[in-house]
Amino acid sequence: MLIPQTSTSLGDTLRHRRQQLANLIDFPAILWSGSNNSRNFPANTFPFRASSHFLYFAGLPLPKAAIRLEAGKLELFIDDPSPSSALWHGEMPTREEIAEKIGADVARPMAELESWLEDAATLAVQDAATWTQQSQLLNRWVLPQSPPQGIDLELAKAIVSLRLTHDDGALTELRKAAAVTVKAHKAGMAATLQAKLEAEVRAAMEGVIIAHNMTTSYNSIVTVHGEVLHNEQYHHSLQPGDLLLADVGAETETGWAGDVTRTWPVSGKFSSTQRDIYNVVLAAHDACIAKIQPGVEYEDIHLLAATAIAEGLVELGILQGNPQDLVEMDAHALFFPHGIGHLLGLDVHDMEDLGDLAGYEEGRERSDRFGLSYLRLNRPLRPGMLVTIEPGFYQVPAILNDANVRSKYQNVVNWQRLSEFADVRGIRIEDDVLVTKEGSEVLTAALPNDADTIENLINS
Ligand code: GLY
Ligand code: MN
Ligand code: MN
Repeated sequence: MLIPQTSTSLGDTLRHRRQQLANLIDFPAILWSGSNNSRNFPANTFPFRASSHFLYFAGLPLPKAAIRLEAGKLELFIDDPSPSSALWHGEMPTREEIAEKIGADVARPMAELESWLEDAATLAVQDAATWTQQSQLLNRWVLPQSPPQGIDLELAKAIVSLRLTHDDGALTELRKAAAVTVKAHKAGMAATLQAKLEAEVRAAMEGVIIAHNMTTSYNSIVTVHGEVLHNEQYHHSLQPGDLLLADVGAETETGWAGDVTRTWPVSGKFSSTQRDIYNVVLAAHDACIAKIQPGVEYEDIHLLAATAIAEGLVELGILQGNPQDLVEMDAHALFFPHGIGHLLGLDVHDMEDLGDLAGYEEGRERSDRFGLSYLRLNRPLRPGMLVTIEPGFYQVPAILNDANVRSKYQNVVNWQRLSEFADVRGIRIEDDVLVTKEGSEVLTAALPNDADTIENLINS
């Protein structure tokens, strides 16, 4: 691993974060970085991605490392590169060089970690080799699928309270991720007229990300079947009447994520039906962003999007009734079944490894209502939070062809009118919005989202 260059002093940022942690807990925390999973044989591995909690305090994606945090001090546990590793992996930084870069107080070989475990809390890392090691060393189950308990839960709550709002070091990285994400989307639009397959547009977009020495922050969605919410297939051909939905985000070398969706016409021109629905989704997107400011409940932002979509669909004659009543009966969710967005940070769904601990204010639980159950964030907004705003419209066959659904909503959907919009399978418009003291700042605002400018970008 090379040590990524960072503009602000990484050591100062990290020192501040661990001092803040020390103000919240009075026991040691040990955070493991994780290790690469193998693909098809041990030496052929998936790219390494360090645990986000580790990255938050250690700053660098160090494989097979751990940090022990206590009273504002950082002890680094990592092995020096083996003599043979230089042959295969080149010259690697030594333990002492890494320790200096991240401002560690002490650096020790990994084998010494077992002498420093007493009373320590931890959080499960996703890869099985690491959570097994965590469980064995700490002599209790540390499982990524199970919510943390006891002091692990206390640690989780403390870390959530820090990671919920972003410091300057984080924002510097998040702005870089946003800028490269915007560039990738522009490249995708510019490549579309020449492309025959979804895969070619994906390649143009990910090529920009790779050229910045970044990775994607999740598996890209680049599809003419946007009604499949997490479609990860890229083999479809592009037909002139199709809309292409691209949900692609860059992740910086130190793990900070972008998450943006645009939807554009393959031909370079929206049909009138596509433009009508696009403008309904855009109106919801703009109304939500205009309302973002400290103190506002994110659930209310979601309901605002739901109402705006219901209003737009009533105007188009697809839904019938009063928009507020339609939202109360979850009719909007027939076409907008997911939540308006989520926290964004080191994880694209930030801290979702902890279930809803980060997304939901203490004492709140997920609703079981059709239109609210996929809401990933339910907290009052605070300055420094970064959230996505991503309304959409989808014609999901599994929803719209369900006999119970059709009977429940038979009087509020004009099915005949809906059939005139068959060339709109899925539209989503997603931006990354920072809550500021004054209101909000859209970190991805450099990427246009109005229909005319998008058409121009495709044709230019
Ligand atoms: N890219 C996944 C999401 O938008 O939530
Ligand atoms: Mn998102
Ligand atoms: Mn997305």
